[in-house]
Amino acid sequence: MGLETPDDAAVFRLSEDLALVQTLDFFTPIVDDPFTFGQIAAANALSDIYAMGGRPITALNILCWPCELGSEAAVEILRGGAEKVREAGAAVVGGHTVEDKEPKFGMAVTGLVRPGEELTAAGARPGDLLVLTKPLGTGILATALKGDFLTAAEVEEAVEGMRLLNAGAARAARKVGARACTDVTGFGLLGHLLNMLGEEGLGCLVEASSVPFYPRTLEMAAMGMVPAGAHNNRLFYGGDVKAEGVDELLLCALFDPQTSGGLLLAVPPQEEEEALEVLKRENPAGAWVIGSFRERGDAKVVVLP
Ligand code: CO
Ligand code: CO
Ligand code: CO
Repeated sequence: MGLETPDDAAVFRLSEDLALVQTLDFFTPIVDDPFTFGQIAAANALSDIYAMGGRPITALNILCWPCELGSEAAVEILRGGAEKVREAGAAVVGGHTVEDKEPKFGMAVTGLVRPGEELTAAGARPGDLLVLTKPLGTGILATALKGDFLTAAEVEEAVEGMRLLNAGAARAARKVGARACTDVTGFGLLGHLLNMLGEEGLGCLVEASSVPFYPRTLEMAAMGMVPAGAHNNRLFYGGDVKAEGVDELLLCALFDPQTSGGLLLAVPPQEEEEALEVLKRENPAGAWVIGSFRERGDAKVVVLP
């Protein structure tokens, strides 16, 4: 699996029963504390392995660093990243650093999966439940944090969410027979959902009132703390989304680019109760049914107020 499908990671078959899963992700700091930023960046990079149903085995650091910031914060970032990789049961085996005007950190992660057991973004069927495993709002909250409209303490819940590994959610997804899986990152909830639908006539209904947000998200959106990425996502994907009667700010928030977001799953409808129970047990962030897949109507995605 490579460039032709919009999946979370590349899968390269090594033998009959073993395939490599490979992914890379890095970005500029979204919180002030370097150790926490390292944790979040690592959880975010590892997530694409989990979203493919893989097990991470090794990670390589990618660090861009302005020398005038000194080495102490850089070391803390690397320490935070390494801690998360250890928690994932994988090992940091190297990396590379370059000098840059702006700090950036992330990882290239390698995982393993049995061929045929990959969880891909495609595969949902009409009637399947759309399940989300972390609240939304990290792009909006990070923008408010940068603008000093919120303190670090006020975004603590979102920070907890961002550094939470998607390992438990992926384990639960497999247990409940999820038919499709991706993680919510830069394209926002609706962008990644559209990637799950493909061109074949599958559609999805989203109940906006069922979508969970981190505290203060909609309030900050109302104050204009919406990152450019949310507007860009809406421009790019909005044509495939019908959202009559949905509040403008809420719709913006559904396009908010996420850092280390949750998994988005297609779960067979008969599994609803068991799925939510297993997901809530395995994933401390929780689990929410936010809509359902169906035959495509007049728009690929219909959002109800
Ligand atoms: Co992804
Ligand atoms: Co990615
Ligand atoms: Co080198």
